[in-house]
Amino acid sequence: MTLSEKYRDEIAAILARYPVKRSALIPLLYLAQREQGYITEEAMIEIAGILGLTPPQVYETVTFYTLFNRKPVGKFHIQICKSLMCALVGSDSVIEWINTKLGIGPGETTPDGLFTLSLVECLASCGTGPMMQINDDYYERLTEEKVDQILSDLRSTGSSQLKSGPFMWPEPTKT
Ligand code: FES
Repeated sequence: MTLSEKYRDEIAAILARYPVKRSALIPLLYLAQREQGYITEEAMIEIAGILGLTPPQVYETVTFYTLFNRKPVGKFHIQICKSLMCALVGSDSVIEWINTKLGIGPGETTPDGLFTLSLVECLASCGTGPMMQINDDYYERLTEEKVDQILSDLRSTGSSQLKSGPFMWPEPTKT
């Protein structure tokens, strides 16, 4: 079943939010990723058709942002920030530690399908590095002990108390 068939109303609601159709590209890509965990070539072609874009235009956007997956990922998608501020406070050690604990490097998934490791650019949490995002949750000020706890929690319960939650912009200060 195509996205248009399955999500007719949701797609219509997304399109209605934007005066220029192509502005709906990112939300439609999110929808496609939510459906399968990654964005298939068929979904890119379909979205291009919906928005009046060429498939390469959609592909360019998908490949520009690390938040879009182009192949299946594990149940828990670990995305470690490798940008400067996190690198200065030890993201390399976190990457090595996860590599040691899970036996996977960047772009790889554990044989049981539980964890995929990706290295990503700044996740806008630069003051609390080293940090990582797993699915929609942030985990900050990481240490080897914290990483062990998080991985163990995810394995046993599917979530961890140590998560910081999804990134939220701070409320504007009143003047
Ligand atoms: S540098 Fe890591 S969150 Fe910004």
